[in-house]
Amino acid sequence: MFNPIPTPVLNRMRQLEAQDARDRQDGTGRLQRLRQIPPETGKFLAILAANAPAGNIIEIGTSAGYSTLWLALACRANGRTLATFEILPEKVKLATETFSQAGVSDVITLVYGDARQHLAGIADVAFCFLDAEKEVYGDCYDLVVPNLATGGLLVADNAISHGDAMRDVLDRALQDPRLDALIVPIGKGLLLGRRVTINN
Ligand SMILES: C[S@@+](CC[C@H](N)C(=O)[O-])C[C@H]1O[C@@H](n2cnc3c(N)ncnc32)[C@H](O)[C@@H]1O
Repeated sequence: MFNPIPTPVLNRMRQLEAQDARDRQDGTGRLQRLRQIPPETGKFLAILAANAPAGNIIEIGTSAGYSTLWLALACRANGRTLATFEILPEKVKLATETFSQAGVSDVITLVYGDARQHLAGIADVAFCFLDAEKEVYGDCYDLVVPNLATGGLLVADNAISHGDAMRDVLDRALQDPRLDALIVPIGKGLLLGRRVTINN
């Protein structure tokens, strides 16, 4: 399904991977950097999203759209669409270029703004990738988990690289009776939670 990756998508992925690597080395400021997931995490997300139940596929924290491209591959393969949320206008501009160059704009709705203003209105979440500032993870968790479809997945990045900053959310997820949850040691570490009940 992801092999071969269509050339326009692969070309933009390679550009963004090179830009992200440069950003990490040349002292680019934290908010300007792309701070994107590594390719193995992207492929893992795509495989998970491709197997998500019926419902909405969403992403919190688009940056330049690298992780979104992986999710778009899953959506394209299954005739689905996704919505991705980004709070910084310069990142929205970059992501718009990404989706246009990669030829995937038709499967992506890019929403400019604080995701927390939108999440309460999204029911039946089949798959959510959370990759924003760690300070908003708690709010996003509270807004997304009650709306997960049965079998729906919440995946949050940096569970190992930023384990201390995510401690509260990690502890809550690992003890949440609504989820089967674990930490997956891929890339920077993913918190993976699967919704097991439909009540609250
Ligand atoms: C780590 S980067 C995302 C990287 C991206 N997922 C990827 O792998 O290509 C985090 C992004 O989340 C955005 N962000 C932070 N807080 C947000 C919020 N409350 N709503 C929407 N976007 C947010 C930041 O501006 C930044 O672009």
